[in-house]
Amino acid sequence: MTSQTYTFFAIVPISLEMPFAEELKSLGITEYKVGKGQCIFKTDFTGLMKVNLWTRFASRILLKVGESPYKNEDDIYKFVFSCKWENYFKPNQSIKISTTSRKCPLKSINFLTLRIKDAVCDRFRELDGQRPEVDKVYPDIQIFAHVNDRTISVYLDTSGESLFKRGWRRDKGEAPLKENLAAGLVKLANWTPDKPLYDPFCGSGTIIIEAATMAINMAPGLTRRFGFEKIIGFNSTEWQTMKTQAREAIDWSVPVNLAGSDISSIVVEKAKKNAQLAGLTKLMLEGRMKFFQCDAREARPTADMPGIVIANPPYGEQSNPKSASVASMMKNVADNLKHNFAGWTVWFLTSDLLLPRQMRLSESRKIVFFNGTLDCRFFRFEMVSGSNRRQ
Ligand SMILES: C[S@@+](CC[C@H](N)C(=O)[O-])C[C@H]1O[C@@H](n2cnc3c(N)ncnc32)[C@H](O)[C@@H]1O
Repeated sequence: MTSQTYTFFAIVPISLEMPFAEELKSLGITEYKVGKGQCIFKTDFTGLMKVNLWTRFASRILLKVGESPYKNEDDIYKFVFSCKWENYFKPNQSIKISTTSRKCPLKSINFLTLRIKDAVCDRFRELDGQRPEVDKVYPDIQIFAHVNDRTISVYLDTSGESLFKRGWRRDKGEAPLKENLAAGLVKLANWTPDKPLYDPFCGSGTIIIEAATMAINMAPGLTRRFGFEKIIGFNSTEWQTMKTQAREAIDWSVPVNLAGSDISSIVVEKAKKNAQLAGLTKLMLEGRMKFFQCDAREARPTADMPGIVIANPPYGEQSNPKSASVASMMKNVADNLKHNFAGWTVWFLTSDLLLPRQMRLSESRKIVFFNGTLDCRFFRFEMVSGSNRRQ
């Protein structure tokens, strides 16, 4: 299976499609097509393992098994039955089918999911008398089906748990950002390790931890398991070698200045714990990464030279009821930034589109970004004294 080329479908958060395409390029994958929230690419099984191991931005990578036009459930059953599932997994492995649809005229997606499951199982039963069991919680193999108004596509999941789960998080703060979204913010802000980075609303530390692993070139998937490990043709020796090479590629010598603070000392302890679990203790011991308790209204620069602030401050849905207090706090935070952070670039992710107005600042850039289902903006503010005040 290793040398054969397959088509893969990456599910990617909106606005992170191009950063993901850059990751593909850096891994030597040049055949790809970017769409909204997705990227289709071609590579072999080795390339697939690399993408899962190294991507910081994708949420999931699916292997395309087939696609067909359909008119009714019977067409779909026949098509799914015709797919060579036996090339990918064995009947003694458990399966789960997930179906999504867009403009699908069929009445019941649940019924369709059942028909797809029957088609897969019936194929195995006809081939060798044994059929896979369904396990909706811990399946060995996940099959994804997507139906639109005319075609059905079926995919095999290669990631297992969603890729934002790096395997290090134990302690959550209030409304933690998903790790791939945090990495995306760091990338979209054009942060590079030579610039000081500070998150004054750090919560469980996700943004700072992701920036640290980017700086030292630590592969995000080093300590977790992947769905592809259960697919026929998986080469465990090759995978172990790939992970050893990734460990050797970590560069601990990169000079970084990373800091996170939060008003809650309990949350700060969680951030430190998460950084330890992410394997970043060395950076903390050497003072290159620190977490401390501080009210953002009283924060001070964490470096002698201007750097970048990236944060997702609390907003509406997280501080119920949506109160004047968050708005007035952000006004105070902005006053503090204006007075003490001249020369810094500040990026805030928020679903509160009135944030620039609350801060009495004009943004120099805004990027559409979804935090889960929340429609957010990633605002950039330049802290150049006097020049960016809202009229
Ligand atoms: C949306 S959460 C940040 C989540 C974080 N990015 C993470 O991934 O865990 C907002 C954080 O702001 C903190 N916070 C609220 N008011 C604050 C203030 N005045 N100064 C500093 N932190 C504050 C909360 O304790 C909370 O941890």
